[in-house]
Amino acid sequence: MFKSCVAALVAGLCLASTPLMAAEGDAIVIKFAHVVADDTPKGKGALLFQKLTHERLAGKVKVEVYPNSTLVGDADEMQALLDGRVQLLAPSLSKFDKYTKKLQVFDLPFLFDDEAAVDRFQKREMSRELLRSMADSGIYGLAYWNNGLKQLSATRALVEPKDAAGLAFRIQNSAVLESQFSAVAAKPVRLPFSEVTKSLQSGVVQGAENPWSNIASQQMHKFQPYITESNHGVLNYMVVTSSSFWTSIPFAIRSELEGILLEVTQMVNREAAALNRRDRERILASGSSQLVTLTPEQRQKWRDQMVPVWKAYEEEIGADVIRAALTVNRRR
Ligand code: SIN
Repeated sequence: MFKSCVAALVAGLCLASTPLMAAEGDAIVIKFAHVVADDTPKGKGALLFQKLTHERLAGKVKVEVYPNSTLVGDADEMQALLDGRVQLLAPSLSKFDKYTKKLQVFDLPFLFDDEAAVDRFQKREMSRELLRSMADSGIYGLAYWNNGLKQLSATRALVEPKDAAGLAFRIQNSAVLESQFSAVAAKPVRLPFSEVTKSLQSGVVQGAENPWSNIASQQMHKFQPYITESNHGVLNYMVVTSSSFWTSIPFAIRSELEGILLEVTQMVNREAAALNRRDRERILASGSSQLVTLTPEQRQKWRDQMVPVWKAYEEEIGADVIRAALTVNRRR
């Protein structure tokens, strides 16, 4: 194998025959795994990517979509990508800190005024650079996909920061999110997404933070009698592949795939807010949870208590990255 690869390299052919490219018959197989349900912004994006690829690259590329952590979950998906067991992922931006600290900027609480500000930041040069921030680890960022802003849910009404004191909150695998909950004297508990609902049900944790679409599609609200519309942080995604896999795809096919991805990204980022609005209505109509609406003064109290977290991570993230993010807010 080694000898034949060297021979092929000399002939300039090795790239196309790399074993990193899983093939079925003549088709390149792309396994796209994720942890959420099909009927969410990310789930719909993965299915549209599959549909358009099968229409435009029939016989050349086959896309297999694995939702709901059915193939890999939070704990092992990045390793699976690097090992070639999956070819596309779209983890939440909170889940990359083993590979880059810079993306932690998206976790800083109350950094962005609203979703439109996050959207603007994702289109800026700094965010384009962040897509390449994991190149040293062989991870290639292809696009940002929106979900939305996170809401706080719990077994008791969270009106002021003191209401969160002592409650255990499920968090993603993120140091910033750990600090965010410690800042209000709550207990952050790192858990994979696939375990959130059952941990809320069993009482391992009493609270969580997620956009409406994740709360609804995982039925978290059934165990969370209060949801505070806090919009305190963002939960968006980066679509990633492994650099070695992506560059092993013949140029013409790769260009077509990147075009499809661009189209899908536009759809996801256009529709995500509407899906979250729909799921907010569904949750409230179900009667399972009471909505807590914060006054500007109450929201300011949460902000005042959580914002010192920015300073603690400024060195790791980079003051320039934080500054670039702040410039997208209208009021600054
Ligand atoms: C996801 O939306 O991909 C999951 C986010 C989470 O782990 O809370």
